[in-house]
Amino acid sequence: MKFFIDTANLDEIKKAKEWGLVDGVTTNPSLIAKENVSFKERIKEICELVNGPVSAEVVSTDAQGMIEEARELSSLADNVVIKIPMTMEGIKATKTLSQEGIRTNVTLIFSPLQALLAAKAGATYVSPFVGRLDDISHDGMALIEQVVQIFDNYGFDTEIIVASIRNPIHVLDAAIMGADIATIPFKVISQLAKHPLTDIGLEKFLKDWEKVPEK
Ligand code: E4P
Repeated sequence: MKFFIDTANLDEIKKAKEWGLVDGVTTNPSLIAKENVSFKERIKEICELVNGPVSAEVVSTDAQGMIEEARELSSLADNVVIKIPMTMEGIKATKTLSQEGIRTNVTLIFSPLQALLAAKAGATYVSPFVGRLDDISHDGMALIEQVVQIFDNYGFDTEIIVASIRNPIHVLDAAIMGADIATIPFKVISQLAKHPLTDIGLEKFLKDWEKVPEK
């Protein structure tokens, strides 16, 4: 299972990279806006920092506009992946971009049929959003289960990025279901290694070690 980090913040990416936990990065317009920097400059910086796919999202809503933005963004670095919103215009753009060999990540997926359409259009990745479904009392992880099954049924190469992750349980469930990738906010990545029994156990080992006469 691959771990992407869901952020446009360079310090967060650097820290998670030191832990060996960054196989790729996903950004979106809201994450970029938080950084208050030039969009293209930041994407270039992230691409230099990370040896893996970096998703940059288009903001056009018509297929032609998305395609033009995608061509420009993909010229920034070899590892740029174009994030396309899940609309019929987005599906049209995804089809064209996939024929041009430009990698895409179809985002804002909230139903298994949306994921199926994106895969049929040749998307490299789909991003089903689990947290936002949970937020409205739907079962986010049930969506992942269905998408995994559909892609398995038909042997699609499209990889599933579990997105909108809010807590470590989402990561655990994604791994159990066999999702290809989880894109995880820095805060949740930092929580993954934590267990109170590990802390208590280590404290005791170190205390007992002090009693060893010859080290
Ligand atoms: C994924 O690619 C999205 O950027 C992200 O996971 C959305 O998460 P949010 O629902 O916490 O905004």
